[in-house]
Amino acid sequence: MAATSIDPPSRVAAPPPHDPESAFFSETPPAYAPLPLTPDLDPPGADRLGLSPEEIEQFRTQGYVVKRGLIPTTDLAPFRELFWRQPPVLAAGVSRDDPATWVDPGDRWLVENRWGLDADWMGGSPWPSPEDERPGATVGERVGRLAHRLNRDSANDVWRWHGLGHDPAFVAATSAHPRMLYMLEALMGGPVKRPWRNRGVYAIFPRARDERESRLGAHMDQNMMELSGVTLLDDVPPHSGGFTIFPTSPQMLYPTSEQALNWVATEASTEAIDRLKEQVQPVEFTGRAGDTIFAHGLVVHSAGLHETDRMRLAVIQDFNKVRRRSHMRWTAAGKHGGPRVQCDMDGYFRFPTDGDDDPADGLREVTNQWIMDSNEFVLSRDAPFEDMFHDWNLGREPVRGHVVDEPPWWRKYGLPPLPSATQPPGGGGMAAVPLAEIATYEGDGVWRVQSRANDWMDG
Ligand SMILES: [Fe+2]
Repeated sequence: MAATSIDPPSRVAAPPPHDPESAFFSETPPAYAPLPLTPDLDPPGADRLGLSPEEIEQFRTQGYVVKRGLIPTTDLAPFRELFWRQPPVLAAGVSRDDPATWVDPGDRWLVENRWGLDADWMGGSPWPSPEDERPGATVGERVGRLAHRLNRDSANDVWRWHGLGHDPAFVAATSAHPRMLYMLEALMGGPVKRPWRNRGVYAIFPRARDERESRLGAHMDQNMMELSGVTLLDDVPPHSGGFTIFPTSPQMLYPTSEQALNWVATEASTEAIDRLKEQVQPVEFTGRAGDTIFAHGLVVHSAGLHETDRMRLAVIQDFNKVRRRSHMRWTAAGKHGGPRVQCDMDGYFRFPTDGDDDPADGLREVTNQWIMDSNEFVLSRDAPFEDMFHDWNLGREPVRGHVVDEPPWWRKYGLPPLPSATQPPGGGGMAAVPLAEIATYEGDGVWRVQSRANDWMDG
């Protein structure tokens, strides 16, 4: 297929690995308040599939486009229903019929939130709590994100319902919806990698007026997605936490990366994000259920300012083309006071050899950022291209359904299947596996992973 002839391997040395949970940001406060993106500001074509010339121009120069009514609201209705029956909602006494209960539910969240998880940690144990002794990590080491990630962010209480993101019916109604796949090909061009999961529903709750002040937390995710998509699960009026982006941020950041298809930040990247926040007015995505905003994967964004009594429910999605890929962003827990160690683009973990943590110990927890549809670096280490959209579609070709069923990363590596049939919809997460199961010890603190990234296309 076409994908095998592009992105040839390169001999550029792998950059130092980063924690997959880390975002790219700077401390500079944004100079401008966000402008709500109401439909009257859309270029022509927002209510139709495909891209008008004005929308193509906006995407090329500003890095985003809004499609109104992309997903029929009836397709999303079952998941709006499911929302109100989830454990965090029930535990906090949040009721659809009583908006007073939507305010600051974090006060009522339980400390223990390992709902809907199989006993599959490191092969067959329950997922550890912060107090549990465990053979593969220091007590209290993070377990990766749970099915329900409950946060008290700087301003609002936030529930990131990741567990819904791998529900096949939900993926079919959102990231892999035929109208979504059409837009992915119209934007990125084929071969589109069929999405197998998304990050789920991010709920931002209203807060008591006199408590915390809503402010932006602008950052860039530095994950693998080439294209970001946010679909509203319910209506989001202005100033109600709408996903907020900085137009032109992809255009400003892209040339500062060391690589075209893997984000590798440089000093120029930090200067660019500072300049962006000083000079560019952010825009806030508002609209009706089913409306979707697409942005280039390098977009600088934030949860929106939230000043109303509404709850904001949005589906956060990551999209990619099929490409030859290299290693995953595996992360291995430290033991006996040793640090957590990340896998690099060449598939190497390098553990310190001078501490109490035996680097040859392969019984240590290895995880991935399981909420992502892709965790694999791109094999090509080409420098950024003159035209950052050089292999995007953006009006070059008609959409013809060039979508490929590339297997998801967890299937490529035989990782624990997403939740068993015994779990209710909306639960489940990707458990840890022992390091020795996915990598081989080569001595001197070095473990090497064998890539399975392209086996499916190489046969
Ligand atoms: Fe983010």
